[in-house]
Amino acid sequence: MKIVLGPASTQLGEKIADLLGIERVPVTFKTFPDGENYVRLEGTVQNKEAVIVQTTSPPQDSRLIQLALIADAAKRNGASKVTAVVPYLAYARQDKVFLQGETASIEFVARMLKTAGVDRLITVNVHQERVLEKFPFSAKTVSSISSLAEYFKQKGLEKAFALAPDKGAMHIAEEAKKILGGECGYLEKQRDRYTGQISVEKKTLDVKRKTAIIFDDIISTGGTIVAAAKILKELGAGKIYAACAHPLLIGDAEKRILETGVEEVVGTDSVPCHVSKVSLAPLIANELAR
Ligand code: R5P
Repeated sequence: MKIVLGPASTQLGEKIADLLGIERVPVTFKTFPDGENYVRLEGTVQNKEAVIVQTTSPPQDSRLIQLALIADAAKRNGASKVTAVVPYLAYARQDKVFLQGETASIEFVARMLKTAGVDRLITVNVHQERVLEKFPFSAKTVSSISSLAEYFKQKGLEKAFALAPDKGAMHIAEEAKKILGGECGYLEKQRDRYTGQISVEKKTLDVKRKTAIIFDDIISTGGTIVAAAKILKELGAGKIYAACAHPLLIGDAEKRILETGVEEVVGTDSVPCHVSKVSLAPLIANELAR
C-alpha cells in the first residue's frame, strides 16, 4: 500500500502515511491558464494498492476531477488497486431525486470515479449512509463524532448536552453522548427545497443552565447552527459550542455563528481550515490497517 498525496489533503495524507509507516507518493499538480487541471504521480505505484487521499470540499468540481485524474494515472501506472480516501464527499447531499427533473448527483459522481479506476472508497460522516449501497464499488463511511466529542471532553466539557439540529442527525448526538456522558436530544428542522431557507421548530429540551454542544455532519452557510443556537439560548442553555465533521464555513458562516453567542466552532481536517482542531488521521489510518 502507498499513500498518494492528493493536492487537497496533502497534510492529512502525510499524517496517515506517518501513522501507518508507509511510503507516500507526491503528486505534482497545476492548473493551466484556461482552468484545466494537470496531475502527475512523482513515484511508482506498480503492483501496489494506491490510496489516494483527496477531499472534495470547494472548489469541489476541480477537486473531483483531480481525484479522477489521479486514480486514472494510478491505474495506468500499474496500481493493483485504487482506494480513494475522500473525507468530504461532494454532492452527497443530493442523494436522491427530491424534485422532478433533478438527478441523484452522488450516484453520477460514484459512476465517474468507477470509470476513473477507483475500486474502493472511504469517506467520513457521509450525509446519508444508505447512498453508499448504490456505489459500483465497496464504499464505507467512518465517523469522526467520537473524536470531536473527545476534544470537548479533554476541554472539561464532560456531561455537556449533545444536540442534533435535526432528527436525521440524532445518531450523531447519540454517538457524542456516549463519550460525553450527558444527555442528548434533537430539534425539528425543515428546509424549503426551492429557496434553501431553513426553519427550526422550538421544542422543550432540558438544557437550562447546561453546557450544550451542537453536533452536525456539515456546517456550510451556518444557517442550521445559528437557528439551533438561538433556540438553545431561548431555552436558557449555558455555554454553547458547535462541532461538525466538515467545516465548509461558506462566506461569513463562522462569524454569524459566533455572533449568536456560540463559544467555539470545532471541525476536523476533512476541510482543512483554522477550526480543524481534530485530525482524521488516526481514524483513517485505523480503517486502512484493518
Ligand atoms: C443537512 O441536513 C446537513 O446535515 C447540515 O445540517 C447542513 O448541510 C448544514 O448546512 P448550513 O450550514 O448551510 O445550514
